[in-house]
Amino acid sequence: MYSEKVMDHFMNPRNVGEIENADGVGEVGNAKCGDIMKMYLKIENDIIVDAKFKTFGCGAAVATSSMSTELVVGKTVEEALKITNKAVAEALDGLPSAKMHCSNLAEEAIRAAIEDYKRKNGLLGECDCAAACGRRCDDVHHDHGYDEDDDE
Ligand code: FES
Repeated sequence: MYSEKVMDHFMNPRNVGEIENADGVGEVGNAKCGDIMKMYLKIENDIIVDAKFKTFGCGAAVATSSMSTELVVGKTVEEALKITNKAVAEALDGLPSAKMHCSNLAEEAIRAAIEDYKRKNGLLGECDCAAACGRRCDDVHHDHGYDEDDDE
């Protein structure tokens, strides 16, 4: 039911761990199952040069986390924001439809980490979202049921 790539990234996840003094850290929870992913990004001159993750979740969540760290490294911040959960699943040769929701964690964690980077560097603008949730953002719109600000 799982592709070889999914099994490989589950059994031998890449880039597990933390980055000390990361430029962006994003922690997200999957509303469907309660699983959690935390992503750390090192960003230099707008390019993501390193990514690490810690995921408390199912095999599909671990595999998609692992693959997403491989996908973001070498990309610009704006390119990384375009990575969708579908693209992560496709890079793993697909996920069973019942497990597609698990890949949402990867997409959201990338966005949350980049948003954190932008916030720390004064790169966020005001938008409607700020009125809704009391935070600043630009193209990263939140649909979270938890407070990312207390992740440290
Ligand atoms: Fe929770 Fe897969 S069941 S992320």
